[in-house]
Amino acid sequence: MKLQFTLNGERLELDVEPLRRLLDVVRDDLALTGTKEGCGEGECGACSVLVDGVVVNSCLVPASQVDGCEVVTIEGAGFERVRQCFLEQGAAQCGICTPGMIVMTRAWAERCRREGREPGLDDARTALAGNLCRCTGYGAILRAALDAAKERP
Ligand code: FES
Ligand code: FES
Repeated sequence: MKLQFTLNGERLELDVEPLRRLLDVVRDDLALTGTKEGCGEGECGACSVLVDGVVVNSCLVPASQVDGCEVVTIEGAGFERVRQCFLEQGAAQCGICTPGMIVMTRAWAERCRREGREPGLDDARTALAGNLCRCTGYGAILRAALDAAKERP
């Protein structure tokens, strides 16, 4: 099928198998390897990207579903602040989970701002519950997420 979508602000048209995973389109067809594959079955969140502003597991999304959509990966704009907070807290080790954590943190931080909600640790834990890390433990990751949500642009 002809797939038309916006990726990180750029309009694209690709020929893809409709059931090809969005993760494979992004990583293999477009060489944007910041998005990681962990479990490949919707359990770990490593492959998180934004589709029309909503976080999805790109390993579960067929390419056909993003036709006409706006897709943002970790290479896109708007992650600088969250990335910096992760850096300052030392919240990465092997880095496989990190792009997904950052994508989810950004979405959560934006939701807190939109709703005028003061971000808290329990809230951060709930927001990142679907993102698994095998290396660092979650202390530094949660502190980084909280820093990112508290700072104002
Ligand atoms: S690789 Fe997609 S959720 Fe784990
Ligand atoms: S830093 Fe290795 S899985 Fe999280």
